[in-house]
Amino acid sequence: MKVVIVGGGSGIGLGVAREVLRRGGQAVIVGRSRTKLDAGVAELGGEAKGIQACEADITREEDVERLFARVGSFRHLVTTAADVTRAYQPVRELDLAGARSFIDSKFTSSLLLAKHAVKHIEVGGSFTLTGGIAAQRPAPRGALVAAVNGALEGLARALAVELAPLRVNLVSPGWVDTPIWDKLAGSAKAERFDAMARRLPVGRVGTPEDVAHAVLFLMENSFTTGSVLHVDGGHPLV
Ligand SMILES: NC(=O)c1ccc[n+]([C@@H]2O[C@H](COP(=O)([O-])OP(=O)(O)OC[C@H]3O[C@@H](n4cnc5c(N)ncnc54)[C@H](OP(=O)(O)O)[C@@H]3O)[C@@H](O)[C@H]2O)c1
Repeated sequence: MKVVIVGGGSGIGLGVAREVLRRGGQAVIVGRSRTKLDAGVAELGGEAKGIQACEADITREEDVERLFARVGSFRHLVTTAADVTRAYQPVRELDLAGARSFIDSKFTSSLLLAKHAVKHIEVGGSFTLTGGIAAQRPAPRGALVAAVNGALEGLARALAVELAPLRVNLVSPGWVDTPIWDKLAGSAKAERFDAMARRLPVGRVGTPEDVAHAVLFLMENSFTTGSVLHVDGGHPLV
C-alpha cells in the first residue's frame, strides 16, 4: 500500500506516515522544505523503511502535476498541508494577499490535488482532506480559517460524489500538539495547551497519532465516503 501524504514533513502528516509504515505500507511525504522532509525521513528510519520524500509547493499547479508524474500510481492520498503564517487576521484589517496565501495553501491546493491525483490513484483508493475545529468553533481573528475549513467539508462531500468510486473524506482535528502551534502561539504554547486540556472532556490536547489513527480508518474503511470525522477531544461541547 503506497500512500502519498502532502504535508507529511511535520505534525499530523508525519504522524500519518509513521502509522502507514507501522502497518507495512510505503509513505511518500511531500512539502516545500527539503530540510523538513529530510528530518521527517530520518525520524521515521530512512528510505530502507519505505519512506520517500518529494519537494513540491502544492499551490503551484505545475508542481502538483510533476509530483504525481514522479510518484506514479498509488493507493491513498492524504493532505494535511496548510500555511497559517497569515491565516489569522481581523476582518476589518484584512490583508488580501495574506488571506489568499492561506486559501491557496489549504483549499485551492486540495482542488489541485484532486484534479491531478485522480488518474494515479488505484481502484479501491481514497483521498483524505484535513479541515479543523475552527469550522465549528471559530476563534477571534479566525474567520478565514473557519471559512476554509467549512468549505473543505463541502468539497469532500462534492468530490465523493463527482470522483466516485474514489472515496473522499475529511478529518477535522481539534487542538493537536504540532509545530503549527509554534507559529500560532509561540512561547505561550504550553500555557494555552494547559488551559485547553483543563476545558476538554478528555483532559488533554491531541497528538498527531490521535489524528493519524482516524485518517487510517478513513483510508481503509471501504464503506466510508463523504464523511467528516471529528477528532477533537470533545471541543465542540465546551
Ligand atoms: N495542530 C492543530 O491543532 C490543528 C487543529 C486544527 C486543524 N489543523 C490542521 O491540520 C493540518 C496539519 O497541521 P499540523 O498541525 O500538522 O501543522 P504543520 O506541522 O505545520 O504541518 C503542515 C504541513 O504543511 C506543509 N505545507 C504548507 N504549505 C505547503 C505548500 N504550499 N505545499 C506543500 N506543503 C505545504 C508544511 O511543510 P512545508 O513548510 O515544508 O511546506 C507542513 O509540513 C493543517 O491543515 C491544519 O490547519 C491542525
